[in-house]
Amino acid sequence: MKIAVFGCGYTGLTTAVGLAEMGNLVLGIDTDAAKLAALKRGRCPFFEPGLDKLIKRNLARKRLSFSSDAERSILDSDVIICAVATPRGRRNRADLRAVLKVAGDFGRFMAGGTDAYKKNQKLFINKSTVPVGTSEKIRQVIEKSFLSATKRKEFIPNFSVISNPEFLREGTALDDFMNPDRVVFGLEQASSHSSSKTKIEIMLSKIFRYDDSVPIIYTSLRNAEIIKYASNAFLATRISFANELADYCEKVGADITEVAYAMGFDPRIGHNYLQSGAGFGGSCLPKDLHALIAHGKKAGLNLRLLKAVKHINDRRPDRILEVLRNELLKIRGKKIAVWGLSFKPNTDDLRDAPSIPIIRALLKNGAKVHVFDPAAMNKFRELFQTKVNFGTSATSILKDADCLLILTDWREFGTPDFAKIKKALRNPLIVDGRNCLSPAEVQKHGFKYLGIGRRRA
Ligand code: UDX
Repeated sequence: MKIAVFGCGYTGLTTAVGLAEMGNLVLGIDTDAAKLAALKRGRCPFFEPGLDKLIKRNLARKRLSFSSDAERSILDSDVIICAVATPRGRRNRADLRAVLKVAGDFGRFMAGGTDAYKKNQKLFINKSTVPVGTSEKIRQVIEKSFLSATKRKEFIPNFSVISNPEFLREGTALDDFMNPDRVVFGLEQASSHSSSKTKIEIMLSKIFRYDDSVPIIYTSLRNAEIIKYASNAFLATRISFANELADYCEKVGADITEVAYAMGFDPRIGHNYLQSGAGFGGSCLPKDLHALIAHGKKAGLNLRLLKAVKHINDRRPDRILEVLRNELLKIRGKKIAVWGLSFKPNTDDLRDAPSIPIIRALLKNGAKVHVFDPAAMNKFRELFQTKVNFGTSATSILKDADCLLILTDWREFGTPDFAKIKKALRNPLIVDGRNCLSPAEVQKHGFKYLGIGRRRA
């Protein structure tokens, strides 16, 4: 089956490469000429471990190619996968313009060229994160643009809209695609729920070649759309829970990391997404949480719990600043060395990264800020230019600093050379905004250690 993936960002490119790896013929479509040029040369236009290698391999095998020709790709493909961005739009609602443009093109171009569309069923699979009801809107847009392109009054070609939300984490996106914990397909026609698959289910299993151990959930379009938002909102809720409890632990002389660790052994709770610190960022959790609150409001509901989750997270940068202020007494004139800028390790992504408001506030308060990140330096330079000093390594920014502040838990920051740090810092203070160091270990080396929600020594 020939597949065209619209949008070569994190989701689209990972999907295109993963599907090619599974043996499909995949065409990646994007409007960004520079991105396409890089991809055609086998270069991943962003930082995502493992993607480069598989792009090259599948280009060489001729299973993967890239183009900007939406019309040709729609005519030639059996399956269209929409993976374009749905950024935060007006009143925090998802901006659907790019998705509906792909839907409009699909309807318009399906009508041109040959008569193949009359015989073969096509699939329009939406992977972009969209609010409930969007898949139905996608069908309307496709039908409308088909009819207006053909000047017909009624014939609608044979196509299905499928909602297939992605659950890819940046940094492990490829592995998440190849070995998912579940795959969700929202269908227009209810699934038979019997052992015999429907025609569409058979088509999907030919495209997404997962082995039988992967749970495949067939559900309604609306359920699939909500599952994505609900999953991210729940992860965000766990993190804000841990952060709220962290503040409580700190007040009463307890340690949130030990509390969360013990809680996690309860199989009903688990250990993931209970790490406290600077709060969640990235391209999805904050955006999807805001969108769910906004779309809830549109539906006449006040989603109080989710508003609290957002509020707690929005306050995390202030919490880090409070720790610094309490310790340094005044920020003005102090040199702060910051390790970690990206919203999490193994990515260069700065979208909604807590480092941004924290460093902005430090600068506003008169601090001299020196930064290092293993991947996000170039992107950070675009935002802050000469307002901060950029190091060449983690240790290069430490000389005479009044504090080392950790904002991203990159693995390399977890096992530093304490003797070297001690020698370089003017004041032996480490503020661990991700709770990634062991207080006992740090203190053993003669530092003052301040984590978030951890017992003060
Ligand atoms: C997330 C979802 O995990 C993924 O399923 C979805 O499709 C896209 O959004 P991602 O944005 O890559 O993926 O980030 P994730 O690994 O989930 O982390 C989100 C943020 O939460 C990061 O800033 C991370 O540092 C923070 N986080 C995570 C915590 O603060 N504590 C934790 O315990 C876990």
